Amino acid sequence: MTDSTAPPDDVWTVQRILQWTTDFLKQKQVESPRLEAELLLAHARDCPRIRLYTDLLNPLTDDERTRMRGFVKRRANREPLAYITGHKEFFGREFAVGQGVLIPRPETETLVDVCLEHIPTGQPASVCEVGFGSGCIAITLAKQRPQLQMTATDISPRAMDIATANAKTHDVESQVKLLAGDGFEPLGGTTTEQFEGIVSNPPYIREDELAGLEPEVAEHEPREALVSGEDGLLLTRRLITEAVSLLKPGGWMILELDPAQCDTVADIFGAAGFFNTRIYKDLSGLNRIVRASLPKGS
Ligand SMILES: C[S@@+](CC[C@H](N)C(=O)[O-])C[C@H]1O[C@@H](n2cnc3c(N)ncnc32)[C@H](O)[C@@H]1O
Repeated sequence: MTDSTAPPDDVWTVQRILQWTTDFLKQKQVESPRLEAELLLAHARDCPRIRLYTDLLNPLTDDERTRMRGFVKRRANREPLAYITGHKEFFGREFAVGQGVLIPRPETETLVDVCLEHIPTGQPASVCEVGFGSGCIAITLAKQRPQLQMTATDISPRAMDIATANAKTHDVESQVKLLAGDGFEPLGGTTTEQFEGIVSNPPYIREDELAGLEPEVAEHEPREALVSGEDGLLLTRRLITEAVSLLKPGGWMILELDPAQCDTVADIFGAAGFFNTRIYKDLSGLNRIVRASLPKGS
């Protein structure tokens, strides 16, 4: 590029706005500021990220600049990127997300992998999830196992809206029944022995832990998706106890937890009558998932 083809310094080209945003987000202690600047600008211009590199010297339109200014302000306030772009990839698929619903995490892909090991291909099965959030677990399991019927509950009305939209986008509405309410309550009181498996990524953060988390989580993600009592296990204890009467003999329960909770939860499973307990590690090598089964003859 020669000087004669360079845009004047006061023109907001793609290149210039990327540099400015990267520096600004770095000052605000955002991790991966360059990557996030690119993702925000691609979102503001409604184009694929790669396109920014062919357009580096192009000026932004007024509309694009206004949108970008709004996005950068939100991100500098440590709102999660996925809330600004409105989507997050999970298990190779895009899920809509927004304020009021937990952003799917990579650890939860390990939870899905462990569930898939327990759901045979090519035969019908029925699995329940408590706390569907964006719907990423129930919908992914349904996509990966076309004969699976999922019944999933969540206490959050916002989660219901978003998961309903995601189930439609991924075309699994006939396989995924979404119910609003607390724990297993929406299933109805008299329901027994109906599921081969139960899965949950429940809220598991301790009440005193929340304030110390990254602002993206502590200040923007929904409290009911994160915190569960003084030791983080309030909902988990209840789900394990109640799961016993909902599972078929030999049925399994698979939970995502904090690494420090896995041994305690293995004991809670044992006390409730489960056996065959196993702890799985996530991709960072941390204990993350606990699986336990009911005896075949129970
Ligand atoms: C950690 S998030 C998991 C969301 C999603 N399954 C995922 O893995 O990304 C926990 C979810 O449980 C829901 N939840 C919290 N308490 C609940 C309860 N008592 N009954 C049903 N759902 C509950 C929250 O609204 C939230 O969507």
